[in-house]
Amino acid sequence: MKSPDDCILVIFGASGDLTKRKLVPALFDLCCQSLLPDRFAILGVSRTELSDDAFRRHMVESVEQYSENKPVDSAKLQEFAKQLHYEALDTSSAEQYEQLNARLSALAAKYGTLGNFLYYLATPPSLYEVIAANLGHSGLSRQGNGSGWTRIIVEKPFGYDLQSARELNGSLLQAFREDQIYRIDHYLGKETVQNVLVFRFANGIFEPLWNRNYIHHVEVTSAEHIGVEGRGGYYDRAGVIRDMVQNHLLQVVGLIAMEPPSSFDANAIRNEALKVFQALRPFTAQECEESVVRGQYMASTIRGEKVRGYREEEDVASDSRTETYAALKFHIDNWRWGGVPFFVRAGKRLPTRVTEVVIHFKPTPHRLFGPGADMYHGDNELVIRIQPDEGILLRFGLKLPGTGFEVKDVGMDFHYSELSDTYVPSAYERLLLDCMLGDATLYARGDVVEACWAFVDPILNAYEGNPNLKLYGYPAGTWGPKEADALPREYGEQWRYPCKNLATDGEYCEL
Ligand SMILES: NC(=O)c1ccc[n+]([C@@H]2O[C@H](COP(=O)([O-])OP(=O)(O)OC[C@H]3O[C@@H](n4cnc5c(N)ncnc54)[C@H](OP(=O)(O)O)[C@@H]3O)[C@@H](O)[C@H]2O)c1
Repeated sequence: MKSPDDCILVIFGASGDLTKRKLVPALFDLCCQSLLPDRFAILGVSRTELSDDAFRRHMVESVEQYSENKPVDSAKLQEFAKQLHYEALDTSSAEQYEQLNARLSALAAKYGTLGNFLYYLATPPSLYEVIAANLGHSGLSRQGNGSGWTRIIVEKPFGYDLQSARELNGSLLQAFREDQIYRIDHYLGKETVQNVLVFRFANGIFEPLWNRNYIHHVEVTSAEHIGVEGRGGYYDRAGVIRDMVQNHLLQVVGLIAMEPPSSFDANAIRNEALKVFQALRPFTAQECEESVVRGQYMASTIRGEKVRGYREEEDVASDSRTETYAALKFHIDNWRWGGVPFFVRAGKRLPTRVTEVVIHFKPTPHRLFGPGADMYHGDNELVIRIQPDEGILLRFGLKLPGTGFEVKDVGMDFHYSELSDTYVPSAYERLLLDCMLGDATLYARGDVVEACWAFVDPILNAYEGNPNLKLYGYPAGTWGPKEADALPREYGEQWRYPCKNLATDGEYCEL
């Protein structure tokens, strides 16, 4: 494994939730595997007044709570904490960047980091453009004198719609070059998502089947059992299409559907992903009604406990029409996927937490094994489980021992947990390390993000411009509106339900 260049990482939003729950614990976990640069320092920046020592104390507590490397090695953690520093400033104020500049110069001199700087934007999204512009104006976005590099990681959400994503890209590009910009999609940092590429392109047996001749349809599900968990204010403006479909689930579709890249290089892979998104058949307003089902969770009882409906959540409007569930049917208009429907669904307060891709193969052309109406179909499934219990399951038919030819559906099941001696890094560990190494393969390129927005924009516009378009209530703890079943039913199919509904009451209704 290559070692990253010496550098200083500046976290904007250092007093926030993401820094404490994900970023600093991930950096400590990298430290435990000796994957941080030899000369390395972290500068946390936000408005809250904190001394270096107070920031260190907070971060030590966060690492103890959120590190994946339990039990935490406290001697190592104390050593790691020495590299943490803090500067209180208002990043929206251009004048304060002189103070930042002076602090960075002092840290670079102290640690000998050769002018390499990595900026991480973990602030509210409204500050992304402001911080990038201020870094540009103060000269902090420039690549260091000759040898050094400067990179910027931008958190999600990347824009609110196509126009705002274009504006954000435009603003970032005023201060940074595209190859300095790393747009995070933490789904791409997940081992099992990356494994889609290896599974497809390192094995000879599946790729010949990976097309319209053998695949009947593709299903992508991202179910969460939790509700909005105190993030009602953000969620009520976003909804599941912005929060999950536009970014994470389309990125997964990109990896499932792309052509083999000619090399394993960031641009080669992102070029192929872009072609998939450009081939997505655009939705007309009429198709939005027919091919998209939106839902919102309602109060119910799960395992004897009352669960609030979405409209009763904190900071959610009591007449909100924001979707907490969406199911989409769409097509990719290219040679490989012509005629193959893709079904994607995502939702909150579903019966379980699972993200999986199911490749449904076409049935055998002739059914041989009975009895009668129960003739075995042979429509094999390949299930790629992204989380939890990451793994791959191939379902096929086998003869039941005994007389006759009765066929039983069986599975060949691989679980990542079986590789127990292999450390599986968290998405943030992988992404932070890749950025320090200058590898953008698992980051979204500007044109790719815009292509994804271009696909979902007509759906968002159709619903936002027309309150008469349907929104269905579903009891929390169920698999969403029953109307979603109509999407695969059109092809004689049904969604895969990894478990049963949990709600014992609650209402299915039209809102
Ligand atoms: N939390 C997550 O799990 C998560 C997951 C995915 C993506 N994200 C994204 O990551 C970003 C941060 O999320 P978060 O949950 O950490 O938010 P948060 O807890 O509200 O933190 C926001 C941070 O920004 C700082 N800040 C706000 N205005 C500032 C200003 N004018 N100057 C300097 N610092 C300022 C705040 O510190 P002060 O108030 O001290 O200034 C705080 O440190 C968001 O864009 C979010 O969408 C978060």
